[in-house]
Amino acid sequence: MSMRSLIATALVVSLADLAAAEGPGLGAPLAADEIPFYATYVMPDGRGLPAGSGTAAEGAGIYAAKCALCHGATGVEGPVMPPVGPNDVWAKPAGRYWPYATTIFDYVRRAMPLDEPKSLSDAEAYALTAFILSRNGVIGEGDAMSAQTLPDVVMPNRENFVDVWATQGVTPW
Ligand code: HEC
Repeated sequence: MSMRSLIATALVVSLADLAAAEGPGLGAPLAADEIPFYATYVMPDGRGLPAGSGTAAEGAGIYAAKCALCHGATGVEGPVMPPVGPNDVWAKPAGRYWPYATTIFDYVRRAMPLDEPKSLSDAEAYALTAFILSRNGVIGEGDAMSAQTLPDVVMPNRENFVDVWATQGVTPW
């Protein structure tokens, strides 16, 4: 067999293999009882928030151990996406710019730390949310964040977002 037909045959075989497979074969299907661990959603109004609570003081130690490496010792230095800073459209610091404090909790619990997502307990995620909000001057240092208190936090930039759903008279959540 010539080199060219060898390559052509190999190509056809591998394409046929691909067609036979159901997908690229990445990852593993979740068992039904594993889904709740990943399917966590916190709505802007606080629906979906779990039990537990945490303060900025509790969050400070966790932040130093698990977050400061990427976000800076006090949350302003970076190198990555400083969560603390002015209400600035370019910097968009989560603790001041984002319209809902509940999203900070949802995001941190879901995605951070970047190198070990889903490793934080609910209490740790509340404490880190409190730490970020307190560092931004949005809440007091002693304020405990929980399912009861977090939805009541009014973010400084809240009114500068246009709620597209509201303009359509739709309440999606
Ligand atoms: C290994 C590096 C790393 C670590 C550790 C880390 N983060 Fe992040 N963080 C990132 C990166 C990168 C982004 C931006 C991700 C993106 O935009 O998709 C980010 C984004 C964020 C944001 C959103 C910032 C914004 O203004 O949009 C918050 C809030 C946040 N991280 C909090 C935390 C907290 C709290 C911890 C500690 C539990 C933590 N991060 C640990 C790398 C890290």
